[in-house]
Amino acid sequence: MVTGNEKDGAMKLLDLKVCLEVYPDAAELPGADRTLLREAETATQLAYAPYSHFRVGAALQLADGTVVRGSNQENAAYPSGLCAERTALFWTGANHPGQPILRLAIAACSAHQPGHFLAAAPCGACRQALLEYENRQGQPIRVIVRGVGQHALVSPSIANLLPLQFNLPASK
Ligand code: THU
Repeated sequence: MVTGNEKDGAMKLLDLKVCLEVYPDAAELPGADRTLLREAETATQLAYAPYSHFRVGAALQLADGTVVRGSNQENAAYPSGLCAERTALFWTGANHPGQPILRLAIAACSAHQPGHFLAAAPCGACRQALLEYENRQGQPIRVIVRGVGQHALVSPSIANLLPLQFNLPASK
């Protein structure tokens, strides 16, 4: 750990690591992860992505077993659209307050090749939004994403995907 108070003033390297579980075949994921990834794959069909033609599906599993699906929703005024992950996340916050989120699964495909899934890690803005929910609920959100080919990647938490996290002291 580098505190900034080192006496010698010498530069130090802070080596931050992101550790992921890598499954060469998504079919080998633990059951609950696999089931939720299928929900995310199905959610890609409900994306509204006429501009990027990139369909993203997200699925959140809540502690009471509820599954919330989201998909990206674009808009002609480009920044007004929203990613699949935050569509699902904010719906959850608005409609299932206080219900912890256990897992998030993400899948993506081109509108030109539906069913042919592409790598789908959450963007930086989604990681930041997800992190705040994870911190508020005080328990990790497991993240399951499609990798290239049949690969699937799993992160044990959102914090693991966002080293050096930004927080306002009052944001909890
Ligand atoms: N998109 C998501 O839905 N999630 C992400 O994490 C990254 C990007 C969407 C936004 C936009 O509709 C399309 O993918 C292309 O960027």
